[in-house]
Amino acid sequence: MPGAKLLVADGVTAGYGKIDILHGISLYVDAGEIVSIIGPNGAGKSTAFKTIVGFLHPRGGTIRFNGEDITGLRPDLVLRRGLAYVPQGRIVFPQMTVLENLEMGAYIERDRARVTQALEQVYALFPILRERRRQKAGTMSGGEQQMVAIGRALMTSPTLILLDEPSLGLSPKFVTMIFEKLVEMKDAGFTLMLVEQNAARALAIADRGYVLELGRNRFEGAGPRLLADPEVKRLYLGG
Ligand SMILES: Nc1ncnc2c1ncn2[C@@H]1O[C@H](COP(=O)(O)OP(=O)(O)OP(=O)(O)O)[C@@H](O)[C@H]1O
Ligand SMILES: [Mg+2]
Repeated sequence: MPGAKLLVADGVTAGYGKIDILHGISLYVDAGEIVSIIGPNGAGKSTAFKTIVGFLHPRGGTIRFNGEDITGLRPDLVLRRGLAYVPQGRIVFPQMTVLENLEMGAYIERDRARVTQALEQVYALFPILRERRRQKAGTMSGGEQQMVAIGRALMTSPTLILLDEPSLGLSPKFVTMIFEKLVEMKDAGFTLMLVEQNAARALAIADRGYVLELGRNRFEGAGPRLLADPEVKRLYLGG
């Protein structure tokens, strides 16, 4: 269903303890899109993702996914509805093999045939994970570990995947590869929303983008249009 609104966050206010970090942010993701979120450090990008997937309870606003209200729903229940999350920092279980890491991603899935099918899809996207399936994840390179982390999120065959800084800390070769993989994932039918420091590349692959600043919406629009916007360039793209 291209064009149908898959995720809608409307006026979301959230934070930690008594402090609000997000002050009424709004965004949406259409089925089939790549949506990129950029903005300075501390803008609240990760906080927005944590709120959408249920790790933080918003103090105001609503979050709808697939036409249903998921505001304040527990993360595991959000995942069951088809919204997966790859946190910042490419977290893998280092002592477990690649295959065990991937299988952990399918912990909510009881149907073995569906797990096998999801695994095949992950291997199709990331052939190196099949080759290295018996290797301990902690001994993989940074870029490979990020593929494990993304692959794990794909194991529930989600309709929407939120990726927080997928290219952070990777060597230039792996940065390029991760961005190519994101496009491949879109072509394979996944819908993606990502947060990225690598703002120019994130906007270049995005159907639409948002700039957040100090917990508020600052700019939004088609990826290429934001990329070409003189003010966005000056403020967020380093020139
Ligand atoms: N667990 C926490 N407890 C208290 N404050 C937090 C917590 N996590 C983040 N913050 C604060 O919330 C603000 C926004 O942080 P957030 O991680 O959402 O920003 P970000 O846009 O993802 O930044 P970065 O680009 O550095 O990842 C920051 O001021 C941060 O210090
Ligand atoms: Mg962050």
